[in-house]
Amino acid sequence: MRTSLRGGLAERRSRTVQGRRFQDSLLFLAKWLRSPLKIAAVMPSSPDLAATMAACVPVEGDGLVVELGGGTGALTQGLIERGIAPERLVVIERDFGFYKILRERFPAANVVLGDAADLTRLVRAAGFASRPVTAVVSGLPILTFPDELQEVILREAFQLMEADGLFVQFTYGFGPPVPAKRLKRWGLAGDLAGHAMRNVPPAHVWVFRRDEG
Ligand SMILES: C[S@@+](CC[C@H](N)C(=O)[O-])C[C@H]1O[C@@H](n2cnc3c(N)ncnc32)[C@H](O)[C@@H]1O
Repeated sequence: MRTSLRGGLAERRSRTVQGRRFQDSLLFLAKWLRSPLKIAAVMPSSPDLAATMAACVPVEGDGLVVELGGGTGALTQGLIERGIAPERLVVIERDFGFYKILRERFPAANVVLGDAADLTRLVRAAGFASRPVTAVVSGLPILTFPDELQEVILREAFQLMEADGLFVQFTYGFGPPVPAKRLKRWGLAGDLAGHAMRNVPPAHVWVFRRDEG
């Protein structure tokens, strides 16, 4: 009896999660149709991709984890499931509709409305002037950004982070989301860290760090 009650609850929860994913996909599609370059994905990242990205982030310590382009919170959820307390998360989102959803879904996280290019100022304004930052996790379509914008975002991110800070980025492309030569010019290096083949479309996860060599 107790088992079937538990089974029933689990089934209802799974239906709720699926329903929410379906609604989020419709919302993404609607926003993408309005501004394809700004949203850059027809549906939210899958739990598979979220887990692959979150696995790159060290859970130890109490440094902040900054997420860029939170959307409906697919990656935020993955980071929390990885064991990163929501209070450690600063989620930056430029779209007001997505920002409101993130605030509602993750009341304990620090959700900030703004542009990722303004990262340092936004994190400071959120009240974290001196808190170390462990990693920046990006859901931004950085591959499609002009070189100058890529440079601003990466410079801001690495200025904010500790010396061993990590920038985690996914891409739907086959190569690195920022070419190796360009990274080198900016004092960075990138490694392919994993794949999420069940994501639609399949995605690849890269980690950028300061170039030691
Ligand atoms: C590809 S979606 C990813 C959403 C979510 N992280 C996910 O993986 O499902 C890109 C997100 O980045 C946001 N975005 C795009 N450019 C941005 C910028 N310059 N600053 C902050 N957010 C931005 C979009 O509004 C959108 O929510």
